[in-house]
Amino acid sequence: MRVLITGGSGFVGQRLCQQLLTQGHDVQVVSRAPYQVRGRLPKACDIRDSAQAFMDTPPEVLVNLAGESIAAKRWSNSQKETLIRSRIDSTQQLITLCEQLEANGQALPSVMISGSAMGYYGDQGDKVVDETTPPNDEFAHQLCAQWEAAAKPIEAMGVRLAILRIGLVLEAGGGTLQKMLPPFKLGLGGRFGSGAQFMPWIHRDDLVAAIMFLMNESTLSGAFNGSAPHPVTNAEFTKTLAKQLHRPAIFPVPAFVLKAGFGEMSQLLLTGADMRPARLTEAGFTFQYPTLDKALEAIL
Ligand SMILES: NC(=O)c1ccc[n+]([C@@H]2O[C@H](COP(=O)([O-])OP(=O)(O)OC[C@H]3O[C@@H](n4cnc5c(N)ncnc54)[C@H](OP(=O)(O)O)[C@@H]3O)[C@@H](O)[C@H]2O)c1
Repeated sequence: MRVLITGGSGFVGQRLCQQLLTQGHDVQVVSRAPYQVRGRLPKACDIRDSAQAFMDTPPEVLVNLAGESIAAKRWSNSQKETLIRSRIDSTQQLITLCEQLEANGQALPSVMISGSAMGYYGDQGDKVVDETTPPNDEFAHQLCAQWEAAAKPIEAMGVRLAILRIGLVLEAGGGTLQKMLPPFKLGLGGRFGSGAQFMPWIHRDDLVAAIMFLMNESTLSGAFNGSAPHPVTNAEFTKTLAKQLHRPAIFPVPAFVLKAGFGEMSQLLLTGADMRPARLTEAGFTFQYPTLDKALEAIL
């Protein structure tokens, strides 16, 4: 199939592109800077600077992953706007592409897998969270809710929509682990605040497999939690990472230090949700890395 990916040059997208090509699909990537990201992607990827640029070769599947990194900068009002706009604009580009294809009488894609995040639920304390749990209204929720809402109109065009509320993506060379590993390797790691906050996580290969599963299972639509079946608290994450690295992790970072350093963005580190992949599991998806021990052992 011909699969178009926004954010295909990112940490998740790069792996998705490789896997899709391995399985014989054609891969189209939308990037703001096609020439700059060329070296990060396999040669066979067709990289263009907008979704509309693929009008001549219409995709059969859309995967929507683009967006300003949530942890790139402190959440000033203008940064919050950038986080929201980057996601809404990328999603809107895909809707516009479908509208133009429809107007031309060309075939529409059959499905769009659109990104969202665990932040959709906001801070849920120690409550078990599935796709039906009502969200806590805070910035992370508003961001994800607007991102999800931007994708919705595609359903009215008859395109199946599956939304993935992604947990912390784990693999070497990017994402959360890349930031956490240096202090932990030096034995300077520790929990954040009380450590009681949940950190739903997923191995990058499982996330890519989940995207491909949703792409292929033609009856699945709506929101899916994209995280491993065994989420852990920050304290357990810290202990497991330290164990895998054979290092102590005895330097907790107090909540007030994180709040002073990161402002509102410290919520990413100090709050969370015990998010479970209820709908993926029910649909028969199996995780290659169901436990953190197994995932970190493979990665490290
Ligand atoms: N990694 C995680 O732990 C995690 C957890 C939950 C949710 N997610 C979500 O899943 C998606 C993929 O994650 P990822 O880790 O692969 O992200 P990533 O590495 O940060 O890549 C996202 C891509 O989005 C594009 N992008 C960045 N800033 C942008 C902006 N201001 N406007 C438009 N496009 C922009 C970039 O592509 P170009 O430079 O080529 O345009 C980038 O390669 C993201 O939307 C992220 O929020 C990730």
